[in-house]
Amino acid sequence: MAARQAPIVIDNGTGWTKMGFAGNSEPSFVFPTVMGLPHSQSATGSSGPGRPSVAAKPSHLASKRGIDDLDFYIGDEAIKNSKSYGLNYPIRHGQIDNWDLMERFWEKSIFQYLRAEPEDHHVLLTEPPLNAPENRESMAEIMFESFNVQGLYIAVQAVLALAASWTSSKVTDRTLTGTVVDSGDGVTHVIPVAEGYVIGSSIKHIPIAGRDITNFVQQLLRERGETVNIPPEDQMRVSERIKEDYSYVCQDIVKEFRKYDQDPYNWFERYQGEHSVTGRQYGVDVGYERFLAPEIFFNPEIYSSDFLTPLPNVVDEVISSSPIDVRRGLYKNIVLSGGSTMFDHFGARLKRDLRQLVDTRLTNSELQSGNLQKSSGVEVNVISHKRQRHAVWFGGSLLAGLPDFYTSCYSKADYDEIGPSICRRYSIFGSST
Ligand SMILES: Nc1ncnc2c1ncn2[C@@H]1O[C@H](COP(=O)(O)OP(=O)(O)OP(=O)(O)O)[C@@H](O)[C@H]1O
Ligand SMILES: [Mg+2]
Repeated sequence: MAARQAPIVIDNGTGWTKMGFAGNSEPSFVFPTVMGLPHSQSATGSSGPGRPSVAAKPSHLASKRGIDDLDFYIGDEAIKNSKSYGLNYPIRHGQIDNWDLMERFWEKSIFQYLRAEPEDHHVLLTEPPLNAPENRESMAEIMFESFNVQGLYIAVQAVLALAASWTSSKVTDRTLTGTVVDSGDGVTHVIPVAEGYVIGSSIKHIPIAGRDITNFVQQLLRERGETVNIPPEDQMRVSERIKEDYSYVCQDIVKEFRKYDQDPYNWFERYQGEHSVTGRQYGVDVGYERFLAPEIFFNPEIYSSDFLTPLPNVVDEVISSSPIDVRRGLYKNIVLSGGSTMFDHFGARLKRDLRQLVDTRLTNSELQSGNLQKSSGVEVNVISHKRQRHAVWFGGSLLAGLPDFYTSCYSKADYDEIGPSICRRYSIFGSST
């Protein structure tokens, strides 16, 4: 028998697709999850509010398609050609929104980017928490019927993020119990997981993620009069760069403002930009946005009037509403995942604020019980690690690199015999506890 080819690992996010081969520490390709379609075909993927979360079933275009259907771009190429091709986003808020578009997106990503023959590989795909079983079935239909893959595993993103944290030196056992804080471009989830199973009833979503932080940076720059230097079409991109390259989480905003005002030369930075069309140079002074941008997680009222609960409180509520016997394990292993957790000191601040909430509650309950019941304390740990940026993908690469992976997959033979409903069966593997 020919040597097995490495499994393909694909994490399609709202903003970015991460794709590569199992066993690697970084994805081979990271590109925007966007398609450029001729205007005549465009906008089929958009959905309005109120559309059901399960999109129409795939129609297996791959077998029926004519040459016209190859006339589209994905990723950066789609953005480059956006004057003549309409931009479509096949994933919204973490959910696949249009299966025909998604199938074409996968087709191009696998054949043209990875240059792989899917029929020679097993494939690991990722799904958001509480994904409808119909969505898993649609994934299987496309993978087995259009791409003829050898085997498929669909993993919950949060579980992969837990597996990714095994690389941290602070993690001593390969546990799949913990609380995942996954913040990407479109949504932030706080997800408790016990032994590889998501505790669905306790998950919380926070409507603040990377896109909002970029908007907030743009708004702050505008208020300080800095955007007059930036060409309007570059403002989003520049705000995003400033956010990613200069922002950090501070310990106390009042003190931070004081520091900046007393010694601006030390704290302000200068961003040098170049007009994307004319090449003209311009400069932007970057100031308070540096620490205010990620502060919206900790003091959301500075940005939004609708959502007001700070992230540490959300994490605390998620864990407190989980079954009592797993709560200790959930506080002990809070794992960060996704681009919007990458701000410096993010983990330290989350840990400190959460510690305060837990301590206050313990003290109050001790006082109420007349100090009769001295608590033994609760261990609170927040795990940051070097694979956090693409943690979901990396966790997939790690699990798909284990020998158990092949037997945990749905196989082509099983699919042919039983059909898409095999995807309703989960199998958890890889952890040592
Ligand atoms: N160093 C950084 N500091 C802050 N934000 C960052 C950094 N690097 C990337 N980001 C932001 O992370 C976001 C992308 O993260 P990620 O790839 O995890 O999202 P996604 O998987 O596409 O979306 P989702 O998980 O919401 O479906 C973008 O908003 C990007 O600007
Ligand atoms: Mg993601």
